[in-house]
Amino acid sequence: MRPLWIKNAAQLVTVAGENGPRRKKEMSELGIIENGSMWIENGEIIAMGTTSELEASFGARAHEAEIVDATGRLVTPGLVDPHTHVAYGGSREREFEMRLEGSTYMEIMNAGGGIHATSRMTREATEDELVAQTTRRLDSFLQHGVTTVEGKSGYGLDLETELKQLRVMKRLNESHPIDLVPTFMGGHAVPVEYKGREEEYIDILVNEMLPRVAQEGLAVFNDVFCEVGVFTPEQSERILEAGKKLGLVPKIHADEIKSYGGAELAAKVGAISAEHLLKASDEGVRLMAEAGVIACLLPATALYLREEAAQGRAMIDAGVAVAISTDCNPGSSPTTSMPLVMNLACISMRLTPAEALVAATMNAACAIGMQGRVGSLEVGKQADLVMWNVSNYQELQYLFGVNHVGCVWKKGVQVVG
Ligand code: NIG
Ligand code: FE
Repeated sequence: MRPLWIKNAAQLVTVAGENGPRRKKEMSELGIIENGSMWIENGEIIAMGTTSELEASFGARAHEAEIVDATGRLVTPGLVDPHTHVAYGGSREREFEMRLEGSTYMEIMNAGGGIHATSRMTREATEDELVAQTTRRLDSFLQHGVTTVEGKSGYGLDLETELKQLRVMKRLNESHPIDLVPTFMGGHAVPVEYKGREEEYIDILVNEMLPRVAQEGLAVFNDVFCEVGVFTPEQSERILEAGKKLGLVPKIHADEIKSYGGAELAAKVGAISAEHLLKASDEGVRLMAEAGVIACLLPATALYLREEAAQGRAMIDAGVAVAISTDCNPGSSPTTSMPLVMNLACISMRLTPAEALVAATMNAACAIGMQGRVGSLEVGKQADLVMWNVSNYQELQYLFGVNHVGCVWKKGVQVVG
């Protein structure tokens, strides 16, 4: 592979610094290099600096390299989406209409739609069909500048289909340019066939599903939907603690629809991240800051459910490291656009443009344990980067709802543009 030399970027936003969750003022530190330049070899960042600095050290090797002139353009790390349900079967556009006609998300789910509807379609789909459907969504992520994606199971809700979803993600992680980080989410809902026998389902989840997933090495994280009418905080704790014993790191869908002690539980079990948090209590947020739990906020989901977004501004001010994500799923957020999510983080949660970018790169990488390889541009890290058709990071957030992606490179290979 020829070296890649990117030159003359109006702004090279590196987000360089410590490979750890950024909080408070650190969430505004972008490490901007004006007239920036990068030298990339074998998929790795070899050098970064101003174009004149790199001319001095690499100019003699210019003939070897593929040269990209980024004059007038913004270059950033590839975006990271730390929370998706990307590997599912079918679609649910009729429910979108039903919600506009007045049904609520939970009403639809309790009537056997929602997660249960996708569960049926996912059970029916073959592994190859799921690979094909998920590939289209991953391609769309790349088109929106996203180069690393977390993906959850949780539409199987039986051992066989949960394993199928996780295998689909394993295959795609190997075959698709995107790095796909798998999370087991057998705790997404109690399947309809166990209605009224919730504890029996949890027994199976804890005693059969989790050990099998861990044994086959199919997941890094274990997530649960802690919500009124889904799993109680006590049941959620049991599921997360059982995963911890098997080496699966806890994540939790917390306080999305009702305030239910989810943020508090995230702190108690030492979750790497807590998701949604629309209705998180002030005490829960304080405990998360203290325990170092990352808040993974999903403003596109709030918009799509026509709910008020999470208190992102207040969480940052309270010292919580905030990440953002699409929550890509067929019910509450059928989108692959992280740029839109950054726009919404500014508009509906009052993050600054700089904070939104850190939330979609370094903090997002930290929320899925990938900060050693991605999430910022640093010598030695993967060359996952985006060249945008705007000249600075504020413009990226200001011109909203538009896809500004020009080119995307994954491990130094151009995959878009
Ligand atoms: O994160 N809240 C629970 N789970 C998903 C939605 C899943 C679905 O509706 O299919 C979420 O929003
Ligand atoms: Fe989710």
